[in-house]
Amino acid sequence: MQFRLGLIGHPIQHSLSPWIHNQFLEKSGLTGTYSLIEITPEDSFTRELEKLKSSGLHGFNVTVPYKQKIIPYLDQLEWKAEVTGAVNTVVNQNGKWVGYNTDGTGYVRGLKEQYPSVFEAACKVLIIGAGGAARGIYQALIAEGLSYIDIANRTTESAEAIAQKGSDGVQTNVLGLQEAEEVLGHYNLIIQTTAVGMKPNTEEQIISLEQLNEDSIVSDIIYQPLTTKFLQTARRKGAHVHYGHTMLLYQAQYAFQLWTSYNIPIGDLKQQLKTLLE
Ligand code: ATR
Repeated sequence: MQFRLGLIGHPIQHSLSPWIHNQFLEKSGLTGTYSLIEITPEDSFTRELEKLKSSGLHGFNVTVPYKQKIIPYLDQLEWKAEVTGAVNTVVNQNGKWVGYNTDGTGYVRGLKEQYPSVFEAACKVLIIGAGGAARGIYQALIAEGLSYIDIANRTTESAEAIAQKGSDGVQTNVLGLQEAEEVLGHYNLIIQTTAVGMKPNTEEQIISLEQLNEDSIVSDIIYQPLTTKFLQTARRKGAHVHYGHTMLLYQAQYAFQLWTSYNIPIGDLKQQLKTLLE
């Protein structure tokens, strides 16, 4: 069987997903292709999706700006995609399109592999940001049994909306950014999910890490650049760091598993991707 996979979005020419999925195809011994399917704002989204549906693709990834726009075109939504309100992976199940969100689970897989202790003890987590990525990570952490997860955001209303979708036994306090800076020493794991720090060579850092506890793990989901001022500061303070390219790899690993049933070990891909991004 020939797996026909791809990515829709705009712009996607510099996407690293083809590189990752071609590695997975090679490692799995499966034959297949992973194509870039660019849909521009000038194209009719509906018409492009009709073409895609009749092409019989086995599955595809969805990236900006279509992660929400795709939803009405799907036959079914998996719960994490529903809670997150965003789809990054579509699986063709006998002609029906099922939407998933692999970002949160992917993030957690990568974190668990590097820092398994996070999931063993009563870890206190702070998520910074309240967008789609934060929503996915929040739910994935709860699904892994964590129950102390606070959210800090510039606009506290958005963080409140995420907290309301928590589950029984999960304790979530909502904080403003300045408040988060002041109580930072309280957390074992701090996850930065906003785009602040993504501009090339920027000194921007979402919050000060002055009060950081040096035993903490500090994570930034930005992968380009590989390291941000936020992570550099954390590292300088002696904290453990977790890079964003890990999430990129593991969300892809989970998507590939949904399409093919093959769970490909990440192994040396992490180092190879790091080199590509440096
Ligand atoms: P994604 O879906 O990729 O997570 P998003 O939905 O655009 O992205 O969410 C962006 C997040 O980054 C939000 O938490 C946003 O804060 P607000 O809810 O207050 O808008 C945060 N963010 C973006 N730019 C920011 C800035 N300059 N300072 C602080 N927070 C910022």
